[in-house]
Amino acid sequence: MLGKKKIAFLGAGSMAEAMISGIVQSKKLPAKNIIVTNRSNNHRLKELQRKYGITGVKRDNLDLINVDIIVLAMKPKDAETSLQSFSDSLKPNQLILSVLAGISTSFIEKKVPFGQQVIRVMPNTSSMIGESATAISPGNHTSVQNISLVQELLQSIGEVYEIPEEKMDIFTGIAGSGPAYFYYLMEQMEKEAQKSGLNSLIIRKIIAQTVVGAAKMIQEQDTSPEVLRENVTSPNGTTAAGLEALKGNGGGKAITEAIKHAAKRSKEISLQLEKNALGTGVIG
Ligand SMILES: NC(=O)c1ccc[n+]([C@@H]2O[C@H](COP(=O)([O-])OP(=O)(O)OC[C@H]3O[C@@H](n4cnc5c(N)ncnc54)[C@H](OP(=O)(O)O)[C@@H]3O)[C@@H](O)[C@H]2O)c1
Repeated sequence: MLGKKKIAFLGAGSMAEAMISGIVQSKKLPAKNIIVTNRSNNHRLKELQRKYGITGVKRDNLDLINVDIIVLAMKPKDAETSLQSFSDSLKPNQLILSVLAGISTSFIEKKVPFGQQVIRVMPNTSSMIGESATAISPGNHTSVQNISLVQELLQSIGEVYEIPEEKMDIFTGIAGSGPAYFYYLMEQMEKEAQKSGLNSLIIRKIIAQTVVGAAKMIQEQDTSPEVLRENVTSPNGTTAAGLEALKGNGGGKAITEAIKHAAKRSKEISLQLEKNALGTGVIG
C-alpha cells in the first residue's frame, strides 16, 4: 500500500533531507515516488536528487495533482503562503503531513477545504540516523488507514508514537529537546574524564557507549530506569557515592526543570506563531 504512494516535500531543508534519507534507505517507497521542492535554491534540489535518486522540482513547476501525501517542510513563517498556493486545488483524498513546529492541525485545517486530512508530526534530530522519537497527532478528519500509513512511513526515521495534540509541548520538552540534554550531560562527563589524561577520542567513545548501553537496557529488558538504577547501586559502593553527589547537587531537579521550561517555551512559541498568523496573515 505505502509502496505505491507518491509523496511531495514542500521544503528542501535539513528536516526534509532527514526524512527523505530515512525513507529511501528503508526502501518502503521507491525513490522515484518522492518529489522535493523549494522556491529558489536549484543547487539544493540537484544535490538531493543526486544523493537520493528522488526528483527535485522548483515549486513553480510542481503539479501536486497525482501526489498522495503533501509534506509541509518549510519554516512555519512560510507555511500560510504555501497553503494558500495549493489549497483550492486539493483533492479530498490528499493527506497533508505537517512537520511545522508549533503549528496546530486545527490551524492548518482552517486554511484548507473542510474535511481535508491533516497529521502533525514532531520528529527529533536523531531522524538523521533513523533513530528519531517521533510524535504524531492526527487532525479532526484523518482516517485510521492514513494514521497507519503515516506510522509505517515514519518508522523509516525511528520510532513513532501517536499522542493527543495537546501533549505536543511536553513531548517537545522530553524528546524534541531531549537529545541536547544528553549531549550536555556527555559534555560534562567528557570534561571531567579528560582531566585523567585518557585519550579524548577514547573518552568520547566510552561515554557514548555507556549512554547507548543504558538506553538499550531499558528498551530490551523492559525494566524501569528506577529498578535498573537500584540494581547497579551497591550500598556504600562507587555508584552510590556518585548518585548521592548527583542528587545532593540538584541533578534531579535540574532535569525536571529543563523539561518544564522547554515545554513552556514550546507552548509560548506555538501561541506566538498562531497569533502572528491571525494578526498579520503571515505565520512566524
Ligand atoms: N530541524 C529540526 O530539528 C526540526 C525538528 C522538528 C520540526 N522541524 C520543522 O521542520 C520545518 C523545516 O525545518 P528545516 O530546519 O528543515 O528548515 P530549512 O532548512 O530552513 O528549510 C526550509 C525549506 O523550505 C523551503 N521553502 C520555503 N517556502 C517554501 C514553499 N512555499 N514551498 C516549497 N518550499 C519552500 C526553503 O527553500 P526556498 O527558500 O528556496 O524556498 C527551504 O528548502 C520547520 O517548520 C521546523 O519547524 C524541524
